[in-house]
Amino acid sequence: MTPHIEAKKEDIANIVLMPGDPNRAKYITETYLEDYKLVNSLRGELAYTGYYKGKRVTVFSSGMGIASMGIYSHELFDVYDVDYIIRIGTAGSYKEDLKVYDVLVADSAFSNTSFDEESTGEDMKVINSSFDLNSKIMMIAHKKRMDVKLGRVHTTEAFYNDSNLADLNGSLAVEMETYALLFNAKKFHKKATSILTISDNLVTKEEISALEREKKLNDMIFLALETALIL
Ligand code: HPA
Repeated sequence: MTPHIEAKKEDIANIVLMPGDPNRAKYITETYLEDYKLVNSLRGELAYTGYYKGKRVTVFSSGMGIASMGIYSHELFDVYDVDYIIRIGTAGSYKEDLKVYDVLVADSAFSNTSFDEESTGEDMKVINSSFDLNSKIMMIAHKKRMDVKLGRVHTTEAFYNDSNLADLNGSLAVEMETYALLFNAKKFHKKATSILTISDNLVTKEEISALEREKKLNDMIFLALETALIL
């Protein structure tokens, strides 16, 4: 169907949850979905389409970074006519009081990337996520008595960096994909946001292990799936 996705168009739901990691896509599917099938495994990026409490959803791994998220979200919006993408991932906290396992909904993403200029010629520092999606997520969080924060994330190109970025534009945490997702959502007039679990704190150096990263992200996953029910 596309250079990177082998799924048939009808095998992708119009709501896509996107973890970065294919193992997490498999875990979410096997833990939460019924009547599911594997619809993509090209390049090891796994996508499953199934049902959560009767609602059809696709769980599709984005891979790591702006480049990979940029490709998959573009093809899902453009070729597969997906209407909603909710990234579910991890981020490093820039704030002492935004702690490991806290959940942050990205109301916007800031990046110094040249992805935007190279993609459409526009230079945007900050892109907003979907107000409508965020409102629904915050409403579900409130109903389920989950403590969820809303704020800006910094999408970086370099996981390993020794630089001290002077101006983070008010970002609360750092990750590597949200900016590309929001850029493509804006381009195709679709709705997207990210729900992020804090996996490490860059101030206090507290962190969770790779195995915990894969398995202990259930609050965030539940919040994304329950939101899908009202889309
Ligand atoms: N940097 C970039 N991406 C991340 C981090 C980080 O510290 N933690 C989780 N994703």
